[in-house]
Amino acid sequence: MDFKMEVAGLLAKATELSLEDALNTVEIPGNKAMGDFAFPCFRLAKVFRKAPPMIAQEVAEKLDKPAFIENIQVVGAYINFFVKKGIYAQEILSKVLAEKENYGKSDIGAGKTVVIDYSSPNIAKPFHVGHLRSTVIGNAIYKIYEALGYNCEGVNHLGDWGTQFGKLIVAYHNWGSKEAVENQGIQELMRIYVKFHDEAEKNPALDDEARLWFVKMQEGDEEALTLWKWFYDISIKEFERVYKMLGVKFDAYTGESFYNDKMAPVVEELKAKNILKESEGAMIVDLEHKNMAPCLIIRKDGGTLYATRDITAALYRKKTYNFDKCIILTALDQNLHFAQWFEVIHLMGYDWYKDLIHVPFGLVSLDSGKLSTRHGNVILMEDLLNQAIGETKKIIEEKNPSLENKEEVAKQVGIGAVIFNDLYNGRIKDVVFSWERMLNFDGETGPYVQYTHARACSILKRAGEISLDDIHFDALSDEASLDICKLLEAYPEKIKDAANKLEPSVVTRHLVAMAQAFNKFYHDNPILNSEEDVRQARLAVVVAVKTVMKEGLSLLGIDAPEQM
Ligand code: ARG
Repeated sequence: MDFKMEVAGLLAKATELSLEDALNTVEIPGNKAMGDFAFPCFRLAKVFRKAPPMIAQEVAEKLDKPAFIENIQVVGAYINFFVKKGIYAQEILSKVLAEKENYGKSDIGAGKTVVIDYSSPNIAKPFHVGHLRSTVIGNAIYKIYEALGYNCEGVNHLGDWGTQFGKLIVAYHNWGSKEAVENQGIQELMRIYVKFHDEAEKNPALDDEARLWFVKMQEGDEEALTLWKWFYDISIKEFERVYKMLGVKFDAYTGESFYNDKMAPVVEELKAKNILKESEGAMIVDLEHKNMAPCLIIRKDGGTLYATRDITAALYRKKTYNFDKCIILTALDQNLHFAQWFEVIHLMGYDWYKDLIHVPFGLVSLDSGKLSTRHGNVILMEDLLNQAIGETKKIIEEKNPSLENKEEVAKQVGIGAVIFNDLYNGRIKDVVFSWERMLNFDGETGPYVQYTHARACSILKRAGEISLDDIHFDALSDEASLDICKLLEAYPEKIKDAANKLEPSVVTRHLVAMAQAFNKFYHDNPILNSEEDVRQARLAVVVAVKTVMKEGLSLLGIDAPEQM
C-alpha cells in the first residue's frame, strides 16, 4: 500500500481535485506533531471561495477515515493525518523482508543504456586524489543506475594522448633512463615531466620539440609509439592497483589514444557541414552565438586536441552503445570545455547532444591548496588509501583488539571512510580531508554507518534462529520504530532521486539518517530480552535495516563488514 497515494485518493474524492493534484499537494510534515501526512488547503481557496481554515474543516468532515488512519486533525488551514503505526510498520516491513536485497531496485531503466565516463586519469601522471572524486562519484552513479535497471557502460576515457606525451618523450631523452623508469614507474615519469616544465620555462624550444614528437605519434612513428606504449603500460599497472583497492571496474578502457585514427572522418564531417573555420592557421568552430570562445579542433601545427577527441568519442559512443544518456564526470574547472563541444555536436545536427551530460564536482583540498602534478606536491591516491587503512587499524587495535580478520576489516572501513567522505556532501562542494572527521565512529561518516550495520548483524547473531512469519506489528507502535519505517519507505525514492540529480549524496545522507534512527531504536527498545512477540517484531526491524543498509552502502561502492 502506498500511504501517500491512499491519502491523496481520499482527498481527491472529497475535494474534486485530480488524483495527481492531490498527490502533489500532500506533504510529509517535518514536525511529527503535525502528523504523517498533511494537506494544506490554501490552493482550494479560489475554487471554494472560502478561507482556507474553513475549507480544511469542511473537507475533513467529508473524509471517511480508512482503517490505516488512526486520527485526522485540522490545524489552521491544514488537515493532518496520523497513520496507525502497526499497520504502517506491517506494510513497509513486509515489503522489505519479502524483497530482501532487491528492495529499492526497479526496472524503470530497462532497455535503456547509460554511458558513464569516470575516473579517466592521465597516463604518466600519478593517480592523485583529484581523480578520486571522479572515480568514486562515477562508480556510485553507475551502481545507482544499475539498481534502476539501466544497462550501464562504464568507460575509462584515459588521458593517454596529446602534446604532454611529446613532452614526456623529450624529457625522457634528455633526463631519463630506462632503468629509473623501470624501477620507479610513474614517480620517475612525473619527475622528468616536472623537470621538463621547469626547463621549458627557460628554453621554449623544448616545447616546439615536444609538439613535433606528438605529431610523430599521430603519424604512427615507431620510436614515438614504442615509448608511448611503455609509459602507458606502466601507468595502467599502477591505476589498476588503485582500482582494485577501491573495488572499481570499467567495461571499456577507451582512452583518448583510441580515437587517434577516428578523428579524421569527424574533421571531414565538420568541414562538409560548414562548421569548421580557419583562424590564424588553426581550425576552429566558432561559438560566438553562444557567447563562448571558439572550440579549437586542429592546432596550427596539425595536432588535434582534447575537444577533438571528445567529439569523436561522443560520435563513437552513440554509434556503439546508442546511449540514452552519456554522463561524463570531471572537476568543475572543465565546465567550459564541455559546454563548447556539446554545442559543436548540436551544430553538427545531432539532437542527442542534449543527452550528453557533464557532471562537475568540486575540488579536493588538503592544506596545500589545489593539487597539481606540474609542481610535484601531489598526494597519491594509493598513499592516501594506505594511510586510511593504517589509521583505521590503529582505531581497531584500540576499540576491538580481538576482532577476527582485522586486516580485511581495516581495509573495508578505511577505504569506505574515504569514499563516504567524498560522497557525503553535494558533489559540487569541495572535499576536505581530515582523518579525524572521516574516521569518527560517532560522526556522520562511513565507519558510523558500517558500525551500525555491524551492530545489527551482531544482534541477529546473538538472537539465533528467528522466524519472520506471523509478526505482531502492533508491537512496533513507538516513535523510533515508526521513524525507521518511514526511512525504509523513502529509500526507493531516494535512489531515483539520486539518479535524477546525479547526486550520490542523496543516498549517503539517507543512510546516515537510517543509522541514526536505528541507533535511537536500539537505545530506546530492549530487543533480545523482551517478550516473545515484541522481540520478534523488533528483530524484524533489525533484519530490514541491516539488509537495506548493506545494499545502500554497496550502491556507494562501500563494503559492509559484519563485525568491526
Ligand atoms: N583526463 C581528464 C582529466 O584528467 C578527464 C577526462 C574526462 N572525460 C572526458 N571525456 N573528457 O581531467
